[in-house]
Amino acid sequence: MQEAIILVGGKGTRLRPLTNHTPKPLLNVAGSSFIRHQIAKLMDAGVEHVVFATSYLASLFEEEFKDFSQDLDISYAVEEVPLGTGGAIRNAGRLLRGPADAPVLVLNGDILSGLDLRGVLEQHQAREADVTLHLTRVSDPRAFGLVPTDETGRVLSFLEKPKTTEECVTDQINAGCYVFRRSVLESIPADREVSVEQETFPQLVAEGRRVFGHITSGYWRDLGTPLAFVHGSADLVTGTVASPLVPKPADTLIDPTATIDATACIMGGSTIGPRAVIGPHVIVDRSIIGAGVTVSEGAQIHDSVVDHDSAIGQNSRLREAVVGCHAHIGADNELPAQLRLSCGIRIPAQGVRVSGTAAACATIH
Ligand code: GTP
Repeated sequence: MQEAIILVGGKGTRLRPLTNHTPKPLLNVAGSSFIRHQIAKLMDAGVEHVVFATSYLASLFEEEFKDFSQDLDISYAVEEVPLGTGGAIRNAGRLLRGPADAPVLVLNGDILSGLDLRGVLEQHQAREADVTLHLTRVSDPRAFGLVPTDETGRVLSFLEKPKTTEECVTDQINAGCYVFRRSVLESIPADREVSVEQETFPQLVAEGRRVFGHITSGYWRDLGTPLAFVHGSADLVTGTVASPLVPKPADTLIDPTATIDATACIMGGSTIGPRAVIGPHVIVDRSIIGAGVTVSEGAQIHDSVVDHDSAIGQNSRLREAVVGCHAHIGADNELPAQLRLSCGIRIPAQGVRVSGTAAACATIH
């Protein structure tokens, strides 16, 4: 029986306020929670039992899957105190059922990639590896820890983020998907927080264990930041990266219960959620519009997420913005890029404009 662990216990701080009430893997991308895309992909790769390593808002995962009736066993390894990525893998390993030398797939709960999971498992077995890490090649490795390998693919070391060009000895980075020989999980300390990347992997390499890289340069995105999140969703909608849950890629994904004015322009892989109302001459480009959101006439939304039950006023403009749920943005606002608006916030008409305003001053002099 092929088994897998998905790490879903992180707080997702970089995606706040979306993650205030919803764990990152349960956020909606391309019409389904992200974890459902991952599960569909795991099932396609022959996985029959998956363990969710949960901590932050743990009960919401059981709620999400309480009626799950497909051919997959789901177990929950709940951490009362977050154990870090390594500690979480060890803790979830208790619930696995396979033999000591069985290969166990481990996925971060926020990585979108075109990786062929069966291919990684096959390579892991062929090399008789203790651990295989998916390593992706990136054009600018300076923002990441680096993982150089020898000509056979064996991992040489785990290096800190490079500070100079000379320190960029490879363009390979840890892509957040691993295969462990099950018995190797026992070597991770069980009683404290452990980082798999900073502690477990370097230690295994230092001990001479068979740690290999599965190196690819195809589609890969960490959905941990708002912009990556909206772009990942758009890539799923348009088929730039495949998911079994998006059988017919298209330019947009519009829920049948949404109301879209005929003059509105929805594009770039945007998603419009249930009961959303999109008014005349609105532009929604490469964005996620949640359930019950109202976007009024002439508003423009680019590369943004608007969480459920919020309202965007007439002619307001959003770019690379994150709007929490139940927020109300009045008319004629022009929000600066990368702004995050808290759940329930109210911004009056003309309250924020990055390009100034010719409107009369409302105060009495
Ligand atoms: P940020 O707070 O925005 O950095 O996000 P995050 O909390 O998800 O952290 P990060 O992106 O580094 O985590 C990578 C993956 O590991 C995500 O899928 C997390 O859910 C998961 N993760 C991180 N820490 C823990 C932990 O202590 N326990 C468990 N079970 N999972 C974790």
